[in-house]
Amino acid sequence: MVSLDPAPVETKRTGPRGAGVGLCCRGEAPEGGAATRAVNSNANARRWQNRRMSFVGLDEIREAGTRLEEVCLRTPVWPSRILSRMAGGTTVLKCENLQRTGSFKIRGAYNRIARLSAEQRSRGVVAASAGNHAQGVALGASLLGVHSTVFMPAGAPLPKVEATSKYGAKVVLEGSVYDDAYAAACTFAEESGAVMVHPFDHPDVIAGQATIALEILEQVPDAATIIVPIGGGGLISGVAAAAKELRPGIRIVGVEPVGAATLTRSLEAGEVVTLPEISTIADGLAAKRAGDLTFEYVRKLVDDVVTVTEEEIAEGLLLMTERARLMVEPAAAVGVAGAMRRRSPITFPAVVIVSGGNIDPLLLMRVIRFGMTSAGRYFSFRTRLRDRPGELQRLSGAIAGVGVNVVGVEHRREGVLHSSLNDVEVSLQVELRGPDHIKELIARLEEDGYEVTSL
Ligand SMILES: Cc1ncc(COP(=O)(O)O)c(C=O)c1O
Repeated sequence: MVSLDPAPVETKRTGPRGAGVGLCCRGEAPEGGAATRAVNSNANARRWQNRRMSFVGLDEIREAGTRLEEVCLRTPVWPSRILSRMAGGTTVLKCENLQRTGSFKIRGAYNRIARLSAEQRSRGVVAASAGNHAQGVALGASLLGVHSTVFMPAGAPLPKVEATSKYGAKVVLEGSVYDDAYAAACTFAEESGAVMVHPFDHPDVIAGQATIALEILEQVPDAATIIVPIGGGGLISGVAAAAKELRPGIRIVGVEPVGAATLTRSLEAGEVVTLPEISTIADGLAAKRAGDLTFEYVRKLVDDVVTVTEEEIAEGLLLMTERARLMVEPAAAVGVAGAMRRRSPITFPAVVIVSGGNIDPLLLMRVIRFGMTSAGRYFSFRTRLRDRPGELQRLSGAIAGVGVNVVGVEHRREGVLHSSLNDVEVSLQVELRGPDHIKELIARLEEDGYEVTSL
């Protein structure tokens, strides 16, 4: 039985509570008896010391939680029946798409800026981002009375650019990709003295993101797996740092788009590698390089990192929109896709972090159409008809005969190759129930003498 928050949406965040700090390292059961703990205590203490040198600890994470209390929402968790069915066990969504600024990024950005000294704050902060981090930094800085400058690539989604500016940042559009904006932000930091707020590779950012895990373990106390989308790795680093301290046996699984598999490639190589090219609809995860710090967290604390295809991401987003009635962005659908496809063994109850909901409506339409095509619910094809009255009606009768809905049609006489003078070409887009329904449609049309070419 999964414990859930009684109210679907909480608008006030409670500070981290929870049991005492376990000093166990990864893989050791916290519920071991007193004798076992005594035997292991020296080894544990040594390992704890080593870890404390580089990883954020529970004290820092809890302090971050207290800092964020008045700033962030304690986002709700929603059980999802459909995802549970697909994943093979109880699966719950942690809805950071409902967070202030529309993603979890405000947590890390605010924590980082709040920990600056008065002198550092007086110099202002600077960041580079294509969207969510930009909004987190802009709002975090404004709430703390700090001036912020955010460099964004010219191709950043317009709603994200506008929101960043409305939250109070000075927005500078620079270059066409994130790397251009990042280079410009670094130059600006050097020249102006403004403090760089890195999107993922800083302990204070990681500690801020880690507060999500504190909430998850209060909201779903028996959570056995947490599934996390990965970009540069700050979110999963924080979640793993907190969750493995509180529950060493918990499984942490990271999911990346196959076209931006930064950590997968780095783990294979045994060092951080820079991908020459990245390509994904999950703009929030479009990082060419993981952080040096986050790579260490993932290497030591994360159980598995897997990839999903663009089609699977689109299907995840479609599932959230249609069945969970949640508006999510492609980056957030990546974890959902990992659970849907069971890319890594999952122990239950599982929690999927739905990390953000900032999506341009036009992109949402395109991704949904792509997801429907990939799920076999949208099909485009072309066929030929004799050029005489009643032929189009005969074709639509055959299509209607198998219960398929036509959503678009184009009828062309001119410019059609391989067609006799007496033929016309017709392209159709139809909506159907799934892959079997496509087969049924094609069989019916072929039976009636049509040649079907899928587009
Ligand atoms: C919505 C969303 N999900 C996940 C991530 C990945 O976070 P990280 O870069 O810390 O791995 C990002 C990063 O910007 C994001 O915007």
